[in-house]
Amino acid sequence: MKLYYQLGYKYFSMPWDRGPRDELLQLIESGRITPCRAIDLGCGTGSNAVLLAQYGFDVTGVDFAASAIDKAKQKGTGKCIVLDPFMGSGTVAVVATELGRDWIGIDLGGKDGEYKKMALERLQGTTIGLF
Ligand SMILES: C[S@@+](CC[C@H](N)C(=O)[O-])C[C@H]1O[C@@H](n2cnc3c(N)ncnc32)[C@H](O)[C@@H]1O
Repeated sequence: MKLYYQLGYKYFSMPWDRGPRDELLQLIESGRITPCRAIDLGCGTGSNAVLLAQYGFDVTGVDFAASAIDKAKQKGTGKCIVLDPFMGSGTVAVVATELGRDWIGIDLGGKDGEYKKMALERLQGTTIGLF
């Protein structure tokens, strides 16, 4: 069964993969569900998870088909940005970059700017952060 989903998402357009569900949108817009932590089990390419995130839910999508998760990541990219207001040596930005996510890092402190230097070295060639 896992192989079916894995190959299906990779090579075909799956019949249910047609964007976020109207029912979910209605639940959100009517206020019957309000932003909270949410988990989308079997999230597929993430349409519903992305919709929830756009409405302020702290959502995690889970799926055993790696090809579906790859597509979900593409949907997510550009729609949300990882913000690290205390960037330090840039670990969050490094991980965000590895996951293909955009990020903004801010750091105003640090003794002798040592963390800033470390972050700049680690992040050379990636998106520019704000220090
Ligand atoms: C019918 S699709 C629905 C996908 C998505 N929720 C949507 O509405 O577009 C079911 C999804 O559940 C995933 N799935 C099925 N069994 C799973 C399991 N045991 N663990 C993780 N994901 C699973 C499949 O890979 C598939 O993406």
